[in-house]
Order: sequence, then structure tokens, then C-alpha cells
Amino acid sequence: MCGIIGYVGARPCKELVLSGLEHLEYRGYDSAGLVLVEPGHLHRARALGPVKHLREAAAGISSTATLGMGHTRWATHGGVEERNTHPFVSADGRFAVLMNGIFENYVELRAEVAERGHVLTSDTDTEALVHLLAEAYEGDLADTVRRIYPRLEGHFAFLVVCTDEPDRIVGARLAWPPLVVGRGAGETFLASFTPAFLSETRAIQLVAEGEIVIATADDVEFRRVADWSLQEHPIEQADESLEVAAKGGYESFMLKEIHEQPTAIDDTIAERFHNGRLQLDGIGLTDEELRSINRVLVVGCGTALHSGLVGRYLIEEWAQIATEADVASEWRYRNGVFDPKTLVLAISQSGETADTLAAMQIARQRGARVIAITNIMGSAVARAADGALYTRAGLEIGVAATKTFTAQVTLMTLLALHLGAVRGTIAPAEVARIGDELRLLPGLVQQILDDTSLDAQLDVIADRFAHDRFFLFLGRHLGLPICQEGALKLKEISYIPTDAYAAGEMKHGPIALLGEDTPVVAVATDSHVFEKIASNLEEVRARGAHVIAVATEGNTVIHHHAEHVLFIPRTRPELQPVLAVVPLQILAYKIAVRLGLDVDRPRNLAKTVTVE
Ligand code: AGP
Repeated sequence: MCGIIGYVGARPCKELVLSGLEHLEYRGYDSAGLVLVEPGHLHRARALGPVKHLREAAAGISSTATLGMGHTRWATHGGVEERNTHPFVSADGRFAVLMNGIFENYVELRAEVAERGHVLTSDTDTEALVHLLAEAYEGDLADTVRRIYPRLEGHFAFLVVCTDEPDRIVGARLAWPPLVVGRGAGETFLASFTPAFLSETRAIQLVAEGEIVIATADDVEFRRVADWSLQEHPIEQADESLEVAAKGGYESFMLKEIHEQPTAIDDTIAERFHNGRLQLDGIGLTDEELRSINRVLVVGCGTALHSGLVGRYLIEEWAQIATEADVASEWRYRNGVFDPKTLVLAISQSGETADTLAAMQIARQRGARVIAITNIMGSAVARAADGALYTRAGLEIGVAATKTFTAQVTLMTLLALHLGAVRGTIAPAEVARIGDELRLLPGLVQQILDDTSLDAQLDVIADRFAHDRFFLFLGRHLGLPICQEGALKLKEISYIPTDAYAAGEMKHGPIALLGEDTPVVAVATDSHVFEKIASNLEEVRARGAHVIAVATEGNTVIHHHAEHVLFIPRTRPELQPVLAVVPLQILAYKIAVRLGLDVDRPRNLAKTVTVE
């Protein structure tokens, strides 16, 4: 979390830094700040809230500085206050620092600099760095960072500048927070993620873990901290799907991304079917190795885990491999037992989630094989795995994941089919049949999005229930992870408490929550558990609660069990999750809008979660 950007070149850079920060805002929007560096002095502006507030705060700075850097914050150490907003500047005004990450030994570092007489102006971990720099500086900023680096524990990517060296930015990385360099003609960018400067250059280089980067307008040096050796990194072309996003006429990114799902699903499938046969390039394991797998573990967080839970059912169904799925932050502290026949599937749209990365690393150390499933080419999870499979959803800006979820479910479906095909547990003709139905999904999602009567019905439901104090989601089998995802969408953007439960478990506790003011959302699509969930809905109705059911079109009995029925097109039960989640995304969206909330930037959240 937190987005950082730096620029050094020939152009006045205030606008470049501000616009870069706007593209990084999804990483945190508690507050934002920038510095513009001129020979001998620097200008700083900071503001609480989104980058547009920083824009206003910086309006009075008329500097033509051609070196600058900015930060958008997701608060970890220190409350959401201007004094805790990066960049931090030394007392003599010569040094400025900003960071994405955490100094785990910050208590010790802060005490140390305070003892030596520095006045700490914030409650952050980062501020100690600027005082350490000011103390240790002997005329060479990069060398100063090299000497301080071993004192810093944790995980971070930071940038520093000094007014004595107004031609360079020095950056450093430890562990997973990313740092990417953009190479333009006579100008250089440094950022957490390429979209921050993609409108200016597509030529990128990645700063590796344990490196210090020294960036000037015409040159970039990468040095390994351990031995100060120069490192070569190829200049690559940034992934086109990361094209800087615009709302394109939609009122929010989330709504736009909901509508991009047909394309995301189509693009995720397209390249992988050749004449009815599946090919998963990049999987990283040979067919022989896939045949030897006797256990699968799926790890991820939030929405990514929910797609993994869908995958769990499908892998068991088609590939007949024992599969479990767990929250990465929990699994990493379990004493998991592995061998080379265990396959770990690590799912992360951003490819940066700290807990997912840690879980992967532990799994590999214990001998498991790991495949990453991510939306970002070359991201940390992709680099830390034996193989990487990419969803092709394009850049997702809305903090609430939508198109990346349906793309992940699609990819998990392909992977489950592939495992089954390779292991001979599903006949080639059946793979081809399912493939044919899979290819219809983008059109069926489009049908849901174009269905004006469904939309009107969702409006009625949103109007009726937007002010209720609690929603319960109930599902069984493949409907359960969709309920978990629907409940997460609603709570994260509307702040209404929700719970998602296995419908059969309801009578073991959650039924106590039901009353005449409780909306209960159920995924009740046609499947072998439909009768079971229908009975559970009767139990709900007997308590006076209001049932909203997602059901398969043509189902004539569902009206007996629900007050509101959201019909979705028919497909085979294994493919229903991709369709069933769409009305739940739209319902969450419509409720949040009625409550006057910012759906793209829900409070306290960030799109990428790079801290534990
Ligand atoms: C999704 O709506 C959430 N904002 C969140 O749960 C997210 O899915 C989670 O943080 C995992 O992110 P990742 O896929 O980038 O690892």
C-alpha cells in the first residue's frame, strides 16, 4: 500500500508528480504529499484525503523544479494527520524521504535519533530515515543510503532526495514492495507501479530486492547493497493492458469495471483454447509433474480467496485431487506439511499482497510446487512461483474487485479442466464440451448487464433495503463462495455489516440474527443442492426475514421461496459462479450509491495490501 513516484528530467515536474499520484491513488488515499527540489531548497505540500486535495494545497507553488517526488498514503504508523503525511523533510530542509512499506525496528530508530537531539514531528516509522540521512551525509547521497540501509529492518521501497544534489533521486528496496523505473528521453521516473508514468514512457526496468537505484535524467544505476556491485536490468516494454485507466463515461471505475467483465472473461479464455484443447502456457510444471500431484492448496486473501474457493470445488470435481483453500494470512502461520507432490495455487490480482507472497515462499521452502494466478505481468507473486498464469482483465482501479474476480474464476475453471485433462480424470470430449460452454460466458454476462428489467428490479431492492442494518448471505456448494464474495462487496463499499454462511450451517447459530427487518440474499441457482437451499429459505421465511434469490432462468419454483428473484441465464452448474456474482456486484454498487458513498475509494481500504 502507499504509492510513490519520483521524476528527474528536463520538464517542470509538479504536474507530472500530481498526475502520477492520481494513478497511484488506489494504493491509499488517507493523505498525499509532494516535494519539488531546486538547487539549495525544496518546496513541500501535503494534504489529507485524496490527491485532489494535494492539488489544491500545491496550487500556490509556482516552482519550475525538474526534480520532484510524491506519495499517497495508506496509514500504518501514525494516524491520518497532515504531520504524518509523507514526504518528511530534515530540520535543515536539505533532505526529503518518502516510503511504501514498514521499518519494523522503527521504535528503536526513532528513539535513537531523538536521543541525538532530532525533533520528531510525526508518529511514523519513516521519519527516522530523514534524520539518519541528515546525520550521515558526507556529500554523496547514494553512499549515505548504502551506509544506512543495513540498519533498516522490515519491507520497503523508499525514495530520497537532497537539495545539494538536485540532479538525482536515490531509491532502495527490501523485500516485496515494488519499485519500477520508467526510462524516457532525457528523463527518468520511479514509481510503485507503471501506470503512474505510462502516459510518458513504456520503457521500464525493475529494481530488484536488496538494491539501491540512483536515477538521473539520462542514466540509472542499479547497485546491490551487499557488495555495491553494478547490476544490469533489461529495459522491458510495459504491459499494454495496464493502459492508464479513465472512467470512459461511467460514473465510477467500479461500474465501468463491472461492465468490462465480458471482455475480461473472453480475453482470459481466448488464448488458451486451441481446436477444443486447452493449453496453459507458463504453468511451470510438466504434464508428468501435474500427474504426480496428490494435493492442492489454494491461498489468497479477500476476493482472490473466494475465486480459489470456487476453484477448490472444480479441481475436486474434474481433477479428483484433494484440495483445500485457506486465507493466506492464517495459512502462513500454520505448520503446513508439504512435499513435492503438493501443488500450491497462490491467487492475487495485484501480485503484491504480502500475506500471499509469504505463504508462497513458505510453501516453496517446504518443498511444494507453486503456481501464481495474477493479473499483473512480472508481479512479485509471478516472480516468486514455479509458474504464473495470468488473468487478462486489464488494470482494475476500483478498490472493490469485480472484473478480476470473474477473470480469476474463469482461470481457475480452465486450470481445473487442464488438471483433469492431463490426469485423465475427465474425457477429452467433455473438456471440449465444457470449453464450448465456457466460451459462451462473456455473452451471457453481457446479457445480464443488458437486462433492463433485472436492473430495475435491483433498483427496487436497493431502495427497499439500503438502510437495513444487516444482510445475511446464504449459499451451498459453488453458491457459497459467491455469497462470500457478494457479502464482501456489500460490506466493503456500503459499510453495512454482512455475513456469508453455508446455508446448512444457518440453524447452528446465524438463524438467531433473523427477524422481520433482515434481508437474506441466497444463491439458489439450479444444481444438485437446489432442493436443499430451497428448504433453508423456508426456514428463513418462517422467521419473517426477506429473501432475495439469485436463480436460474426458467426455474418456476423459486418464487415460492423468495420475495425477490434475480434471474440469470442458464449454463452448466460448474460455470454458474461467473454469472451469479454479477447481480450481487450490481446490488452492492446500487446500495452504496444510495448511501452517498465513494464506491471507488471505500474508507480505510487500499487496492494493494503490501503489509501483513
Ligand atoms: C476486493 O474487493 C478486496 N478489496 C480485497 O479483498 C482484495 O481482493 C484482497 O486484498 C486481495 O488482493 P489481491 O488479489 O491483490 O491479492
